[in-house]
Amino acid sequence: MTGIIRLAVLGSTGSIGRQTMEVVRAFPSRFTVVGLAAGGNTDLLAEQMAEFKPGLVCCRGEKPPAGSYQPVTMEEMASHPEVDTVVIATPGRAGLMPTLAAARAGKNIALANKESLVAAGHIIISEAQRTGARILPVDSEHSAIWQCLEGEKKPPARIILTASGGPFRSYTPAQLEGVTAEQALRHPSWLMGEKVTVDSATLMNKGFEVIEAHWLFDVPYDDIEVLIHPQSIVHSIVEFVDGSAKAQLSYPDMRLPIQYALSYPERLPNPELPRLDWSLISQLDFAPPDPATFPCLRLALEAGRSGGTSPAVLSAADEVAVELFLANRIKFSQIPNLVERVLEHHQPTSKPTLDDIIEADAWARETAFKLSSGEKKA
Ligand SMILES: NC(=O)c1ccc[n+]([C@@H]2O[C@H](COP(=O)([O-])OP(=O)(O)OC[C@H]3O[C@@H](n4cnc5c(N)ncnc54)[C@H](OP(=O)(O)O)[C@@H]3O)[C@@H](O)[C@H]2O)c1
Repeated sequence: MTGIIRLAVLGSTGSIGRQTMEVVRAFPSRFTVVGLAAGGNTDLLAEQMAEFKPGLVCCRGEKPPAGSYQPVTMEEMASHPEVDTVVIATPGRAGLMPTLAAARAGKNIALANKESLVAAGHIIISEAQRTGARILPVDSEHSAIWQCLEGEKKPPARIILTASGGPFRSYTPAQLEGVTAEQALRHPSWLMGEKVTVDSATLMNKGFEVIEAHWLFDVPYDDIEVLIHPQSIVHSIVEFVDGSAKAQLSYPDMRLPIQYALSYPERLPNPELPRLDWSLISQLDFAPPDPATFPCLRLALEAGRSGGTSPAVLSAADEVAVELFLANRIKFSQIPNLVERVLEHHQPTSKPTLDDIIEADAWARETAFKLSSGEKKA
């Protein structure tokens, strides 16, 4: 790696954004922050601005911090000539247009936001291929697959995505009826933003990751499997044509895949990253997820396979359903029902343009809100 890498961090005040800053602090001679984008947490954004002094800032909060910087949109930041690598760590739909802008501008894209690939994978991948933009996966599972594929000449025969199973791994559908937002937000392995934590509890997150893996590694859906692995040590497995398999193992800490994406193809020595004590690991368990407990996984796989605008509708309907659940307006068990009903009402477009996707997304949100107003939270 030559020269200092100029980073724009979108979603800098969130879980991935803050951990990105920790990686930057660990390697001040390797990375510099030239752009920061955040939502409403203006206090933290102001602190980050004071520390990193970025020239470009995007703030959606009502009172953007004062300072000498150029206010820009996230799309302008993601495609700015002074930016080498864009970290996309805004959740949901908010990641789509900046990811596309970065792809069109030929940037390195450290992609944490999975919803953009779910909604518009074919468009983002073809734009990245056209411009030479590199998509560097930040999601731990996709980083694991990427690391396993390094040096391999043949495509993988099979990918096995691991999932912790979240807080309700061993619950029955009946037990899920009464779970609260507080319980759903208590993830056993990872400390993440609210949306992705609820998605992890329903396994919608794993369904999104299957779609993400399909686009990132060009692997058919039939060759991607999901297994529950409660220890969260094996971050994913790749099986090759000869039956040999590789896995990536590490302590569950998002700073590792973030750092790998930023420093690729180099590995950097970071003493702050925890090491596994192999002598303490007596067991690694793997089991298929129970489809009755996790209907969202089935919905995501069906939407991914059906393609077109269905994954965009899945993602948008889920974003609304999670929002309603966190606002205590629907039950946890109503999340898959609501998403499924929106998908049933949808007339998919098979080869969607970006406009078709944006339209499908808006339709799905409106439909989800409408349908939810008829739901009763018993
Ligand atoms: N956290 C993880 O361990 C993890 C792992 C893998 C993948 N991911 C993916 O990474 C993405 C971010 O996850 P996270 O856990 O970091 O989320 P998070 O903690 O909720 O942080 C989200 C960040 O995005 C900002 N933001 C939200 N909506 C925005 C908008 N409309 N415009 C501009 N900024 C906006 C927030 O700003 P404010 O806080 O200032 O409002 C915050 O900085 C998600 O797509 C998730 O699936 C996360």
